[in-house]
Amino acid sequence: MPTKPARTTLAALQAMKTRGERIAMITAYDYPSALIADRAGAPMLLAGDSLGMVVLGHETTLPVSLFDMIRHAAAVVRGAASALIVCDLPFLTYASEADAVASARRVMQETGVQAVKLEGGAPIVPIVRRLTDLGVPVMGHLGFTPQSQNQLGVRVQAKDAAAARQLIADALALEAAGAFAIVLELVPASLAEAVTGRLKIPTIGIGAGAGCDGQVQVWHDVLGLFDEKSPRHARRYAEIGAAMEAAVKAYVDDVQSGAFPTKSNSAAMDPAELAAALAPASTPSA
Ligand code: KIV
Repeated sequence: MPTKPARTTLAALQAMKTRGERIAMITAYDYPSALIADRAGAPMLLAGDSLGMVVLGHETTLPVSLFDMIRHAAAVVRGAASALIVCDLPFLTYASEADAVASARRVMQETGVQAVKLEGGAPIVPIVRRLTDLGVPVMGHLGFTPQSQNQLGVRVQAKDAAAARQLIADALALEAAGAFAIVLELVPASLAEAVTGRLKIPTIGIGAGAGCDGQVQVWHDVLGLFDEKSPRHARRYAEIGAAMEAAVKAYVDDVQSGAFPTKSNSAAMDPAELAAALAPASTPSA
């Protein structure tokens, strides 16, 4: 059998934290983004439900269905041979233990991802416990949890002592329930660093400062796919949206001017064969 490249394991991620090696995670939503991120060496990919906004054009993550996640996460798995792939369970697909087990079963069996991510603290701890007891690796997600954005607003969370204390308690409870890592989104950097120091498992920050064990960024933000200003926590490493638009515009111009296609883009035919094909058909003799 051909040998496949080794995929990042949960143990490898844990060892990265122990060694103080920072973990770079990025979202991927389809085969090409997964292929590129995997080749670029990202050890962990997130098939995130931010898919709802950046791929499907919704305002929030709420309309994303289990079908959407399964279809896209399966494509990510086909593109990435080495990264550990985590798939978000979408809004209200893990509201009870039974729902969570059913949703995780479908995601794990129908996509081939290695783990699922669930948003929330204390209320979902028993659900995380149940999934991890059943052999499903679970990543937690605290701070700003986009599936609750109608309650939270899109803003930095846990800025006062009581909320910060709750976030620390939630993180410890998720770890005790078996989560292998926790995303900290939009929380003050000093709090994220304190949480990171208290946990054995890695924290992966987004808008949570440099004191986390790793970072996760949205593909479209890193690549500069949209014109809009990127969020404060993101860094644009390229202007791919502008490059794509310029390329498509050049193609449209070339078609309109006749500059594309050329002979080299076309197939040739023996002129005698064409002449024979175009000659009037001879009438069969009686
Ligand atoms: O869906 C997503 O992209 C996420 C990240 C923001 C962590 O959950």
